[in-house]
Amino acid sequence: MPPRRLLLRGVLTAALVAVVSPFVHVIDFFYRREAEGVKRQKIANMRDLTPGGFIYFSYPQTGDPKIDNDPFRQFVLIMTEDGQLRVYSRVCVHLWCLPSYIQTRRQLICPCHGSIYREEDGVAIEGPAAYQSYPTNALPMGKIEVDGNGDIWMVGVDGRIGYGREWHNIKPDELVRRV
Ligand code: FES
Repeated sequence: MPPRRLLLRGVLTAALVAVVSPFVHVIDFFYRREAEGVKRQKIANMRDLTPGGFIYFSYPQTGDPKIDNDPFRQFVLIMTEDGQLRVYSRVCVHLWCLPSYIQTRRQLICPCHGSIYREEDGVAIEGPAAYQSYPTNALPMGKIEVDGNGDIWMVGVDGRIGYGREWHNIKPDELVRRV
């Protein structure tokens, strides 16, 4: 290759690295949950829940409160009125506040701008999150397993925390496995 072309290629590569490198940590931020979300972690036992009951927990837990309190590790386990299990990320897909599960309404409600998510599938039905385009209008869900002792295990995350989840054609029950 002629020296001038080689030099030009070197300059272009250096320019590309200079432009992209500041964003590498952002990419890492959005993908970190997928990288970490392979841990199998016991959340509760079926005996701990009654229909309408719920439990807040962090995942994946490390035992270090500083890390475990990270909002991006906050989830809620819900037993719906008809006995179905659901696990949702608590990070609102609008601007990342933490919605609470309101048992009497059977919805997750965000305190910041009022986004409301359905209990059955975590899809936003009101507020700014509901106006976001698919798939950024649904809370990521936890993949769970229930073993023969009734222990409930979280084994991963479907979707991207703080971003959304592809929920068309996916039945939430498919994310619950009996093992
Ligand atoms: S951060 Fe939840 S509605 Fe805005």
